Amino acid sequence: MFHPCCDRRLKFIVDKGLSSRLPQSTCRFLSMDERLFRFASMWKFSMRSPASEAVFALQIRNLQKSFSAPAVDDLSLTIRAGEFYALLGPNGAGKTTTLRMVAGLLEADAGDVSICGIDAFKDTIAAKRVLAWVPDEPMIYDKLTPLEYLEFVSGLWSLDADFARFKADELLEQFGLGPHADERCQGFSKGMRQKVALAGALIHEPRLIILDEPLTGLDAGSARQVKSVLRGLVEKGVTVIMTTHILEVAERMADRIGIIAKGQLIAEGTLEELRPRAGESGTSLEDIFLDIVNGSAEASALRDAKRRSQGAAA
Ligand SMILES: Nc1ncnc2c1ncn2[C@@H]1O[C@H](COP(=O)(O)OP(=O)(O)O)[C@@H](O)[C@H]1O
Ligand SMILES: [Mg+2]
Repeated sequence: MFHPCCDRRLKFIVDKGLSSRLPQSTCRFLSMDERLFRFASMWKFSMRSPASEAVFALQIRNLQKSFSAPAVDDLSLTIRAGEFYALLGPNGAGKTTTLRMVAGLLEADAGDVSICGIDAFKDTIAAKRVLAWVPDEPMIYDKLTPLEYLEFVSGLWSLDADFARFKADELLEQFGLGPHADERCQGFSKGMRQKVALAGALIHEPRLIILDEPLTGLDAGSARQVKSVLRGLVEKGVTVIMTTHILEVAERMADRIGIIAKGQLIAEGTLEELRPRAGESGTSLEDIFLDIVNGSAEASALRDAKRRSQGAAA
């Protein structure tokens, strides 16, 4: 009966029992079905937008960034829609630099990034609309309460006020922040601040969520809530990319794992696919990770030594 774009929204309205709260003034003469349809159409961020039909959530091609030395070195990476992808690598490998370029926070020296089929370097606003970026240090406003912060972020996205309020309530509940919704964020623990930041990043229903070390410094309860929300989103077809030092989290949650060292992707695949890349000892992800990274370091040391000796011989 309805345009397919509205299916999810209508389900949301009906499931939440919001029908009675539909705007009355402008649609007094319309049937309930028509009013539902109009209200659903007002929401700007359709779950079934062209971006949500994209096969690939992220395509990075030949991405490069140098500071005093190359930080991201001709990196290419493809992540399918609906995947949970863990990006691993030693400190300084270039993970944050890569993700900051994807999120439009840092200009690339070269390369292309496509987010849900949108050219992120040309169509920057459209790309940001389908993306959420969650840095490791939560950036929220201390003087605001979680609810005020979510209202503020919804305003930036021009979300319909009713939708924003219901989405905010839903997120606050999922993160266990309901009882603190009206307290100022000032004085919140790192875990609570991170959850407020994450709720803010999710309020516009992004298709691709990028989290840089989201679990660092979180207590066990908060980490569990964050993981549970992320798992729920992936089940709904949202794509998650996460860097983490906690290898067990990658091992348990990720569909695929990418390992970066010195700005290059040195290994990628499911745990099963990566296992043969490690030596005999490769059983846990930690073993696999260390074997691959050490193997790559040895290989690059050998390459450097060879280059030096060739230079000396010339
Ligand atoms: N703003 C910056 N200025 C100079 N060097 C930087 C900057 N950001 C990152 N780097 C360097 O780039 C490299 C990659 O850093 P980063 O992407 O933060 O690694 P990771 O997140 O994998 O730990 C490191 O050598 C780091 O010192
Ligand atoms: Mg980092």
